[in-house]
Amino acid sequence: MSNVVVVGMQWGDEGKGKVVDLLCPKFEAVARYQGGNNAGHTVKFGDQHFSLHLIPSGILHADMQCYLGNGMVVNPDAFFEETSNLEARGVEVEGRLWVSDRAQVLLPMHPEIDLAREAAAGNAKIGTTSRGIGPAYEHKVSRFGIRVADLDSEALMGRFEMLVPRVRAELEGLGVDPDALATPINATALTDYCREVAVRLAPYKTDVSLALNDLIGVGGSVLFEGAQGALLDIDHGSYPYVTSSNSSSGGAAIGTGVPPTAMDGVLGVLKAYGTRVGEGPFPAELDGTVLEYLRDRGREFGTTTGRPRRCGWLDTVVARYARRINGIRAIALTKLDVLDDLEEIKVCVGYNIDGERVDELPADLAKLGRVQPIYETFPGWQENTIGRLRFDDLPVNAQQYVRFIEEEVGAEISLVSTGPKREETIMMDDSLLESWTGGLVG
Ligand code: IMP
Repeated sequence: MSNVVVVGMQWGDEGKGKVVDLLCPKFEAVARYQGGNNAGHTVKFGDQHFSLHLIPSGILHADMQCYLGNGMVVNPDAFFEETSNLEARGVEVEGRLWVSDRAQVLLPMHPEIDLAREAAAGNAKIGTTSRGIGPAYEHKVSRFGIRVADLDSEALMGRFEMLVPRVRAELEGLGVDPDALATPINATALTDYCREVAVRLAPYKTDVSLALNDLIGVGGSVLFEGAQGALLDIDHGSYPYVTSSNSSSGGAAIGTGVPPTAMDGVLGVLKAYGTRVGEGPFPAELDGTVLEYLRDRGREFGTTTGRPRRCGWLDTVVARYARRINGIRAIALTKLDVLDDLEEIKVCVGYNIDGERVDELPADLAKLGRVQPIYETFPGWQENTIGRLRFDDLPVNAQQYVRFIEEEVGAEISLVSTGPKREETIMMDDSLLESWTGGLVG
């Protein structure tokens, strides 16, 4: 059996939740490796809807072990809210949900810092989810962070005595009175908070790297669940309009302590069109009636923040870039059915920047801002494809669209999603994904 990393190939919200849910029965464990409760998906399980932000959707599969890796920033309040919601609805979590002792703790002051920075930034704001993700990672990298293993450390008070004056000074500099916030920002209150969390988190705390490597050592297989998307990666995304972690496949090794040599394949999740939430460049962005159509038909509103998503045509410059930096050989193409009613469909296949054709994603944000997309136009199929189960049953125009994307991006399309339900999925015959999962998925 194989260890597979699932990553988004655009700006997040590609439909990874459904794909992961579909693959879960083929794996013993699922592990998240970066981000925190900025992510989110609603999973339909039986007749119930579950909204998850931190905990992998694998938790809804009774036999699965679920891990939050060291690369994550874990908000304990959000974690306990999710565990109690799950338990209240009959999902057992203890004994199969694990948090790395090396994961960073996202403290109640982090969202306050995030909000204050965004408010002060005006037009230069990032458009974050305001969950405190950036400040939590910043404290990690500046070595002021608190890990799960540190929650009951004797050194905690001393650590906060160094950190708190910096945080208070920053807030004051941003025009926020730290004492007027609902969250007390002082060393004693933070230490007390951590001590309490240490006790509650104890049953979930483990050495995730050891657990996963042991499992792999006895032939178990692990699904690594990326959150956000490749273009939001702190190193490879459209910096600074990115999240603060490595959402691309390389992050799976660093963020769990499972070496890259143990990963067998990377499945890229690509939406049949583009979306983005928050600020930042989006070359094939649409406005007008097609934007409204895609937003409405694709239900493109943020699961975490409820914000309407920006929508655009599929951009294969972006998808090829994502294929390269992630090592993607197989793709799950999602939400094809959302395009059903369109008369014509465009795909951005290259960029015109200052009169020159460019086929690779530029790092320079100013250049990205000047991109004139080069489009190929396809006739729509204007037929209902929801729930089609075989590729050959798709309208010819839809088949041509899928084959064109495969060709342009340079990776096999192993799966096509034709609706939100698990069964509304086309598994391509003899696909790479099938070979990784040891048989038919679904
Ligand atoms: P942060 O991760 O909250 O710091 O937000 C940074 C950027 O990443 C913003 O543009 C967010 O909208 C975006 N972002 C963060 N998480 C997600 C996600 O799960 N889906 C889509 N966009 C996200």
